[in-house]
Amino acid sequence: MATLKAVRGTRDLLPPETELWNRIEATARSVFARYNFGEIRTPIFEDTGLFARGVGEETDIVSKEMFTWEDRARAASEKPQSLTLRPENTAGVVRAYIEHKLGETGQLQKLYYIGPQFRRERPQKGRYRQFWQIGAEVIGPPSAGSESPLRDAEVLEMLATLLDEMGITGWTLELNSVGSAADRARYNDTLRAALEPVVARMCADCQRRAVTNPLRVLDCKVPEDQPIIATLPVIADSLDEESKKHFAAVKEALDTAGVAYTLNPRLVRGLDYYTRTTFEFTHGGLGAQNAILGGGRYDGLSEAIGGPKAPGIGFAMGLDRLVLTLQAKEQTVLETIYVDTPSHAYIAPLGEAQNAPALALAGELRKSGLRVELGDGTFRLKKSFEIANKLAWRIVILGEDEVKSGILTVKNFATGVQSKVPREELTTFLRKPAGELEA
Ligand code: HAM
Repeated sequence: MATLKAVRGTRDLLPPETELWNRIEATARSVFARYNFGEIRTPIFEDTGLFARGVGEETDIVSKEMFTWEDRARAASEKPQSLTLRPENTAGVVRAYIEHKLGETGQLQKLYYIGPQFRRERPQKGRYRQFWQIGAEVIGPPSAGSESPLRDAEVLEMLATLLDEMGITGWTLELNSVGSAADRARYNDTLRAALEPVVARMCADCQRRAVTNPLRVLDCKVPEDQPIIATLPVIADSLDEESKKHFAAVKEALDTAGVAYTLNPRLVRGLDYYTRTTFEFTHGGLGAQNAILGGGRYDGLSEAIGGPKAPGIGFAMGLDRLVLTLQAKEQTVLETIYVDTPSHAYIAPLGEAQNAPALALAGELRKSGLRVELGDGTFRLKKSFEIANKLAWRIVILGEDEVKSGILTVKNFATGVQSKVPREELTTFLRKPAGELEA
């Protein structure tokens, strides 16, 4: 029988790599707490309409990459429902904001999420069909200051701190403004006009988009189209005074806070909900998929999916890509930041009769906060030593004598010293650094 494997574009994450994932997530949670963000968990699948209306029918994500199905029970009924595995989390967060009337608090909502997303993209290094994002959104009624350029700058400053604390260096922040909805409409007209004489030489997707949503032509990846795209007008020239002022204030706050950025007038991002500030953080070590995170402002998203006016800004970072970036660092650097430390002790019961007392001892030590590995009484002492040497700093031998007397035999692998330790002193003893000579 053919063996079953994980589906193309998905993968298993195994220890010790998962330790790195957990530590990145823990760092993110600690930074989010300091910036006063709370966690939100939304469902992994939603009504397809949420993404069609929120992310945009003409985007690659919605038109090509979603995992969508008809709900079976509902398909047979009068009102079939189309469901989709979430390709991103912003639309779900804004749906939850509307559904739970979070805007009625009058406060800014600062929400973060960590979880899997799904896109049917061609898998390659750093690009998967199930991937993880760590993201955050700041959203609220305009009276709460949700439109302020200070929010944009604060989110970007938080990202610089976050990457720094995760140990990721050498990133570039690319920044642009795609203007208000009116600016974008104007820019779309300008683009449509500029595309008219050249679009016949472009790919089929571009030809369709030149009519339906010209901005999306800028997402085209077809190499032959790139020289034409390079000649198209930039959005900066279509911004009105208000949008220019907003963008200038974002940049000024970043300059003052010491967050370095590069302006990229062609950064329009692949989702339709963006307005004004858009950004990506890229990293040279990632190859073709060099965006470690992306985000921006989405002042009209709530209204687009039937909610109240609720401007917002947020980002999502690709956790898979953060891990790749960290793994590419020198192993020694990584070890000091992240890698697994061995267990404090390996408990080796001598004979099956000592298994139960060994379980009790291991439980006691683990409750006191030590990391402990439990062996098995059927192992010969030599085998126990071999395993313990790989997993732990010290081995604790538990034979009949030790159980009776309460005096345990402990060997330190780093120093080779063997000691007799009373049970009540064992926790303190095992906490001592492994390299320290035992008394
Ligand atoms: P996005 O640019 O589509 O934005 O995705 C954000 C990040 O997710 C990317 O920069 C990348 O690191 C990671 N990512 C995307 N697709 C894949 C994939 N197939 N495999 C691995 N990693 C991937 C959004 O999703 C927006 N919701 C961000 C946002 C939040 N904007 C405002 N708020």
